Amino acid sequence: MHIPKAITLLSLLFFPVLSIPTQPQITNTTRLPTNYAMLVFPGYQALDVFGPLDVLNSLAMVYQLPMHLQVISGTLEPVSTIPKTTPTMNMSHGDFGEKIVPTTTFADHADEGNIDVLIVPGGGGTREPLEEEIAFVKAMYPKVQYIVSVCTGATILARSGILDGRNATSNKKAWAWVSSTGPNVHWIPTARWVRDGNIWTSSGVAAGIDAALALVADIYGEDVADYIAMFIEYRRQKDETDDPFAAIWGAEQKKME
Ligand SMILES: *[C@@H]1O[C@H](CO)[C@@H](O)[C@H](O)[C@H]1NC(C)=O
Ligand SMILES: *[C@@H]1O[C@H](CO)[C@@H](O)[C@H](O)[C@H]1NC(C)=O
Ligand SMILES: *[C@@H]1O[C@H](CO)[C@@H](O)[C@H](O)[C@H]1NC(C)=O
Repeated sequence: MHIPKAITLLSLLFFPVLSIPTQPQITNTTRLPTNYAMLVFPGYQALDVFGPLDVLNSLAMVYQLPMHLQVISGTLEPVSTIPKTTPTMNMSHGDFGEKIVPTTTFADHADEGNIDVLIVPGGGGTREPLEEEIAFVKAMYPKVQYIVSVCTGATILARSGILDGRNATSNKKAWAWVSSTGPNVHWIPTARWVRDGNIWTSSGVAAGIDAALALVADIYGEDVADYIAMFIEYRRQKDETDDPFAAIWGAEQKKME
């Protein structure tokens, strides 16, 4: 059966073929980061870890990039989102949580400079002293290309001293505590994320996805970041100053506490 030509043309007029986005090229010709690392500790926030990682997983897959990921912790034991029960820890998930398997330990990195991008998540576990994690960040910072914190992960950076004199942001509900961990940090309450030199700090939990996409935009190109966001069907927040959660959680009022 032949569909009359006129009908075909008419249907094209009313239902134009949608233009499917084409994959943009990566045009940056400098040495791109290859060694990514995620620091984990008991009581990390799942999305702080897996939000940015899924952006990077997708980037590596879509662009077939030679990217390597290390998951770094104190030991090679699987690390749970459930915080350890200690005298200072009163946040509880009950037994609801999940584990990630580290690939290397802090000790393995003692004399190495093989991390280009170090990501530090937050979560209830940041309320612990985290001495080993803080020492690791302090030792690694001079060797990395970028360091990125998500949520209360900024307190690990602040306690290591690397945020002194810098602009930074963090979780808005926990603002009073967060800002107390870095008295010499210029904490910016109304920010989805903050970039100061090679240190990127993001606001609470899901904001890490926007910060990861902003980092991808900075290194690989804005159009590449947009493409990855479309790939994961995510609406990017591109304005780092658009942050309704500072007002929702009263972070600006808590600043001076
Ligand atoms: C290219 O990537 C490097 C990191 O390898 C980054 O420092 C630089 O800003 C990027 N350049 C452009 C034009 O995006
Ligand atoms: C945890 O302890 C702190 C300090 O003692 C207290 O302010 C907070 O309300 C407690 N949180 C929970 C969930 O019990
Ligand atoms: C830090 O934030 C202030 C605004 O609060 C801005 O004027 C300044 O340029 C920022 N510094 C850097 C290095 O981004």
